[in-house]
Amino acid sequence: MGFSYKNQILHAESVAITDLMKAYGSPLYVYSRTDIENNWREFDQAFGAHPHLVCYAVKANSNLAVLNVLAKLGSGFDIVSIGELERVLAAGGKAGQCVFSGVAKTVIEIERALEVGVRCFNVESASELSRIEAVARSVGKQAPISIRVNPNVDAKTHPYISTGLKENKFGVDMSDALNLYQQAQNSKYLNVQGLDCHIGSQITEVAPFLDALDKVLLLLEQLKDKGIDITHLDLGGGVGIDYEGEQTIDIKAYVDAIISKVGLTEIILEPGRAIVGNAGIFVTKVEFLKQNSEHSFAIVDGAMNDLLRPSFYNAYHQVLPINEKNTTGVQAQWDLVGPICETGDFLAKNRALPLSEGDYLALMSAGAYGFTMSSNYNTRPRVAEVMVANATHQLVRKRETVAELFTHEHVWHTPTKETI
Ligand code: LLP
Repeated sequence: MGFSYKNQILHAESVAITDLMKAYGSPLYVYSRTDIENNWREFDQAFGAHPHLVCYAVKANSNLAVLNVLAKLGSGFDIVSIGELERVLAAGGKAGQCVFSGVAKTVIEIERALEVGVRCFNVESASELSRIEAVARSVGKQAPISIRVNPNVDAKTHPYISTGLKENKFGVDMSDALNLYQQAQNSKYLNVQGLDCHIGSQITEVAPFLDALDKVLLLLEQLKDKGIDITHLDLGGGVGIDYEGEQTIDIKAYVDAIISKVGLTEIILEPGRAIVGNAGIFVTKVEFLKQNSEHSFAIVDGAMNDLLRPSFYNAYHQVLPINEKNTTGVQAQWDLVGPICETGDFLAKNRALPLSEGDYLALMSAGAYGFTMSSNYNTRPRVAEVMVANATHQLVRKRETVAELFTHEHVWHTPTKETI
C-alpha cells in the first residue's frame, strides 16, 4: 500500500505528507511509484504465458514520469490523440506497442501514427475506416486496424462513463462490423489485425465484461468463416477500483475467465484507472471553517478545477486527515468546498471529521482522471505533481505560475489607421 499512517501521519511510501507539503506547497498531487508498478504487474503477471499486451490508458494520468515508469516495465499504451502519442514517445514508450483509440482521429494524427508505426488503429466508424485508408494510401503504407464494436451490454456504471450501449457514440454495431471487416480485408492499404471493444469505466463486476466477450467471440467466428483472420482481441479498459470500500474485480480471476474463453488469441487490455487510481492522492489545505445553521463548510485551497470528479460525476473520494489525531479540531459533518465561484465546486460532502483551519486533508484514489482533467478555470494555475518511491521524492510537474497562464494571449492591437 503506497499510502498509510505511520506515527499518526499519513505517508506516501516512507515519506510523510507533511514533509511533501513543506517542500512543494499546497495543493499537491502525490503518486506512489511502487503502487503504479505493482498494479501494472498484477495485470501483466495474471496472463502468465498467454500472449498479451497490457496497454495502459494514457488519459487516466499522462504525466511523463508515470508513462516512463510504465514504459520501463515494458507496458504498451492506449492513446487517443497525437498529444498522448507524443507524450508516450517522449517518455520512452514504443510506438509499436501503442493502440490508437478514439472516435475522431484527424488526418494529421493518422499520418503521424503511421510515420512512427503504431501497433494498431482501433477504428470507430465506416467514415474513419475510409479516412485511415485514404491517409495510408497517400503515404504508401499499410495501416494496421481493429474495428471497435459496440456489444450493447450494460456496464452498470455511471452513465457518463458507460460506453458499450447503443445509445453511446462509441464503436460500430455488431451487425455492421462484418461489412467493415470485408471492406478492410479488400484494401491493400489496410491490414486487419484485431477486434476491439470497451464497454465503460469503473466497472466493479466481471459479468458485463464476459457478456461483451461472448458477443465478440461470436463475431470472431463469423469472421473466421469469411476467411478473415483476427490475431488479437482488445477488450479495452474499465476495471473498477475501490473508492469507498466497495468490492471490485479480482484481476487474476478476470484474466483467467478471459483466457478460458479465447483459446490462443492474443489479448490486449487497456486499463487506466486500475493502474494509477489508488496510486495517487490529492492533498489540500483547510483555509477557513464556516458554519451556518444548516451546513458546515470547510473551504479548502483545492477546487473543482484541480479535481473535477466530485462535481462532474458526483464521484466519491475518501477524505483522510494528514494528521490522524486532531484532538482540538471542530467535529462536524463537513462539506469540503473550493474557492471557485460555482455552487458545484465541492470535493466531498457530509464528512465526519474534526477539522481546524490550516489542516491538510488527502482526497484518496485521485491518481486517475485527477490531474488530467484539471483546468485553469478562475485563472488558477494547475498544481504540482510529485512522485514518491520508498524514501525518495521528486517533483514530476512544477506548479504553474499565473504569468504562464496568459503567455499565449494578446490584447487587441489597434492598428494606427483603423478602418471600420
Ligand atoms: N480504453 C478506452 C477506449 C477508453 O475510452 C477508456 C476510458 C479506457 C480504455 C480506460 O478506462 P479505465 O480502465 O480507466 O476505466 N473521467 C472518467 C473516466 C472516463 C473514462 C474514459 N475512457 C472518470 O473520472 O471516472
